[in-house]
Amino acid sequence: MPRVRVSATLDGMPNRSTWSPASWRTRPAGQQPDWPDAFALDRVLKVISALPPLVFAGEARSLTSSLAEVAAGRAFLLQAGDCAESFNDFTADSIRDKLRVILQMAAVLTYGSGVPVVKVGRIAGQFAKPRSSNTELVDGKEIPSFRGHLVNDDAPTLTARTPDPNRLLDAYHQSASTLNLLRAFTKGGFADLSQVHTWNREFVAQSPGGRKYEALASEIERALRFMRACGVDLSAGTLREVEFWTSHEALILGFEEAMTRRDSLTGDWYDTSAHLLWVGERTREVGGAHADFLSGISNPIGAKVGPSATPAELVALCDKLDPERTPGRLVLIARMGIGKAASRLPGLIGAVRQSGHPVVWTCDPMHGNTFVGAGGRKTRHLDHIMGEISEFFEVCRGEGAWPGGIHIELTGDDVTECLGGTEEVLEEQLELRYTTTCDPRLNGGQSLDLAFQVAELLRT
Ligand code: PEP
Ligand code: CO
Repeated sequence: MPRVRVSATLDGMPNRSTWSPASWRTRPAGQQPDWPDAFALDRVLKVISALPPLVFAGEARSLTSSLAEVAAGRAFLLQAGDCAESFNDFTADSIRDKLRVILQMAAVLTYGSGVPVVKVGRIAGQFAKPRSSNTELVDGKEIPSFRGHLVNDDAPTLTARTPDPNRLLDAYHQSASTLNLLRAFTKGGFADLSQVHTWNREFVAQSPGGRKYEALASEIERALRFMRACGVDLSAGTLREVEFWTSHEALILGFEEAMTRRDSLTGDWYDTSAHLLWVGERTREVGGAHADFLSGISNPIGAKVGPSATPAELVALCDKLDPERTPGRLVLIARMGIGKAASRLPGLIGAVRQSGHPVVWTCDPMHGNTFVGAGGRKTRHLDHIMGEISEFFEVCRGEGAWPGGIHIELTGDDVTECLGGTEEVLEEQLELRYTTTCDPRLNGGQSLDLAFQVAELLRT
């Protein structure tokens, strides 16, 4: 028998027993594509709803347990990956390199924090983007905006930008292959701690500015030697395998609905497209379709929280998404922009705490710090990114909350999309290797710079 979980009757809150994967359809849904052929869309969604799940309910429950440790201050969350995955950059090498840099960051952060690091990729499904405008002007002609490869192509032509439901199927298959490789890498020895540490030593030795991290890298080296001396077998299973989880923004609700299945064990609904789903800054209104959809699935849920969020609004969203106040259910992702945390965050953290929601607070220092550089490219500066993280740590500590994690857009490739770093990317170099299909990402070196600096913050 399915378990009926809640029968909340507060204003605007549906009784959870009446929720279904399709009930979002009765709510205003922002950011949905204008699909040209409703029949073609329905046909594809029907096919997807019969395909195997990408992740399993039991895995999502394990992630909730790990996030409950973060909520309690006993673990740290690293959520990272592309702004938007691309159909054109789909190779084993690029998946491996992204995973590798995330594992390297996680090793440094584990040492800095002294607690386990929960690793969640923006990967294997991060294909849809919210846009500030439905259309854009190209050579005087109005064409639909690019909404991510789940929906349309990025080329600036009317044909390329017309939403095509077959892309939903392509995205499913690319996600399945990506996940398959991630599972193989993380369980097959690629994640070996000694190996990950060797890569970090190479970064410190080879990067011109990396030397300033020498002391921390040597401490990690000594810790590993100490473990070996105590008889810990570093090549044993637990140190060769890691848990790696997937996540994406639950934006295109027809697709997420089609991926949602009832768990045969508990009777609860799970969105099997990823372990964790989040609601974006533009679609998080409590009465909207996205919050309705996420309220009914049992996966752990994230919510972006920007500078316009009010304490009352945020508590209402927490009540909607986590009425049972389950530790690990809800991750609040603050994305304020440098200089704003001190004024915005304390009220939000205080209100959420008073409302009794045991949330994870994490910091997305990317989306509040985007600006257009001299050459017209969207970019971000590593100093602003680090600056927002420092402010986040300071505010959380001032409020007695655990700064539970960071949420980063990065790639393992040697791109020139963000400025700064010890191997500094300058404004005039942005053109060299600017390959993102959406927001600018940290490259491998900049990501490790960031990890070493956050590790220092965690130690203080
Ligand atoms: C994103 O994470 O890529 C994104 C669009 O973020 P936000 O909703 O916070 O703007
Ligand atoms: Co982004």
